[in-house]
Amino acid sequence: MTRTVKEADREKVAERLLKGSAKHSYDPQIDVDWDAPLDPDKFFLPPRLLSLYGTPLWESMTREQRIELSRQEMANIMSVGLWFENILNQALLRKLLSDDPTTRHSQYALTEMGDECRHMLMFGKLIDRVGARPYRKSPLRLTVIKTLPFTFRGTMLWVAALIGEEIFDALQRDMMDDPELQPIVRQVMRIHVTEEARHITYARQGVVRRMARSGRLEKELTGRLAGLGGPFMDLQFINPEMYRRAGLDPREAVRQARANPHHRRSRIDGFAKLAAFLRENDVLKGSAVRLWRRAGFLA
Ligand SMILES: [Fe+2]
Ligand SMILES: [Fe+2]
Repeated sequence: MTRTVKEADREKVAERLLKGSAKHSYDPQIDVDWDAPLDPDKFFLPPRLLSLYGTPLWESMTREQRIELSRQEMANIMSVGLWFENILNQALLRKLLSDDPTTRHSQYALTEMGDECRHMLMFGKLIDRVGARPYRKSPLRLTVIKTLPFTFRGTMLWVAALIGEEIFDALQRDMMDDPELQPIVRQVMRIHVTEEARHITYARQGVVRRMARSGRLEKELTGRLAGLGGPFMDLQFINPEMYRRAGLDPREAVRQARANPHHRRSRIDGFAKLAAFLRENDVLKGSAVRLWRRAGFLA
């Protein structure tokens, strides 16, 4: 009985998300003004959210160097977004292989995958448009990343989706109205935030539904795997290569970024809403809390 009620709820949410998608979806090829000139004096990410903001290194940089760092950090985040959305789509597609294609739930998964395909195209175009180059993974890291879709199963699929989506979403919401930002970056972020809001609803509902019916083993495993998200996200935010491309000493820049209280604050703020949700649903606890704290995402 509970199961049936839960399935009905699931369908209702999916129906609402499908309607929302029909009304508010974007085609980045058309809906972003790619020909608009860049403003040489504007940032690609707000200074206060850059990893080196407020450090001695930052204080020694000219405005031009700071803008260049913002271009590289933005391109790094877009590159992370690209591979993350790629593996999320792989995991969703694998799940659909065994799901009932007549349900609204499956149909929304397909809609979300379509959104992510357009986002990947949009991120690639943005990296190119701002004159940056994508950040590629080393063969070793790529091997690890390629195995991730196989671990995104059951509750973990939805938790992984939220880890990839909510932290960046919180940061994007915080910055998309910043007048210091390049208009093209603001356009991309508005589109992304609108469409990701539906993905987040979908994944959150997945966590609640699965946690209510999964056994102890699945819960335990989800908690432990979710903990690995912390160190993993840490590696994504501070990429030595982006400092090198910005003309800085990568070792010194990494050292200062890691010790930077401003950067720690923006990580904590970015993770706060998701952390509260994961705690409420019994996912974030024990060793997972320690790992996220050590990675600088929890106070
Ligand atoms: Fe996306
Ligand atoms: Fe998404």
